[in-house]
Amino acid sequence: MASDDPSAPLPTELSAVPETALWTLYQRAVEARRPEPLLDDPKAVELVDRIDYPFEERFGTSALQAQLQALRVACFDREVADFLAREPRGTVVCLGEGLETQYWRVDNGRAQWLTVDLPESVALREQLLPPGPRQRYLAADATELGWTDEVDLSREVLVTAQGLCMYLRPAQVRALIAGCAERLPGGSMVLDAVPRWFARLVRDGKLHTSGYQVPPMPWGMDAGERAKLRTASPAVVGVRDVRPAGGRGLVGALLPLVLAVPPLANRRPSVTVLEFAERPDPS
Ligand SMILES: C[S@@+](CC[C@H](N)C(=O)[O-])C[C@H]1O[C@@H](n2cnc3c(N)ncnc32)[C@H](O)[C@@H]1O
Repeated sequence: MASDDPSAPLPTELSAVPETALWTLYQRAVEARRPEPLLDDPKAVELVDRIDYPFEERFGTSALQAQLQALRVACFDREVADFLAREPRGTVVCLGEGLETQYWRVDNGRAQWLTVDLPESVALREQLLPPGPRQRYLAADATELGWTDEVDLSREVLVTAQGLCMYLRPAQVRALIAGCAERLPGGSMVLDAVPRWFARLVRDGKLHTSGYQVPPMPWGMDAGERAKLRTASPAVVGVRDVRPAGGRGLVGALLPLVLAVPPLANRRPSVTVLEFAERPDPS
């Protein structure tokens, strides 16, 4: 039960996929606590301090994981910030947002933000990150597309699916992309994917710490396959790679190589932007 004291630690019990939002939150906080973080995220640090959950015991602490996570998140932040620079009054729809604190990192004071996540994740988000006047939280299954009726189509729209699609089945990912492309004309979507080898490792139970087993990731896509996303719908008219930049130590030294050498580049985790066709002119 939550205490009346808003600063009291909150107990947390989540089922497997929503729990992954605690993992990503924790990685951002680990990175943000470093002296010169790749991702400045004081809100994530504040949440980890506040939530009554054995983060370190469950997830362990790996500077490498935190760094890789920060590089991935920075790709999304860059895309959202670029979108808001072009469309300051646009809407950012965050599918499977969990406890992501991106709003506090990149909001411009004018945009609208819509979160769509499963009921138990939204309940926790509402408790920990109560929505401000330009934020709305919707408890819904992102794959069911009813949430698209809640999007104001008089504004430009960017949909983010950060850390979501790997937990869906391949047919659900295609249907989600097609649904967004067909219902949000002129919009765009940024999503990430784990490569097939990584999804296989998870399937075989090989990714775990002593206290945590990563839940199955039914959808894996090699970076080199991203052009196929275009075939989800004729309304997907553009596909673009978002490349991680920077990095520290060995990661920073190896990243240019991983991005340049085809066998590595084609099998790395990826972040992709999909552009949607404008609505056909009725005249
Ligand atoms: C790995 S977490 C990612 C959270 C956040 N985007 C981040 O990167 O920190 C996965 C999130 O997807 C949500 N999720 C999983 N399946 C979903 C679905 N079908 N519809 C909406 N949200 C879903 C989970 O509840 C969880 O919040």
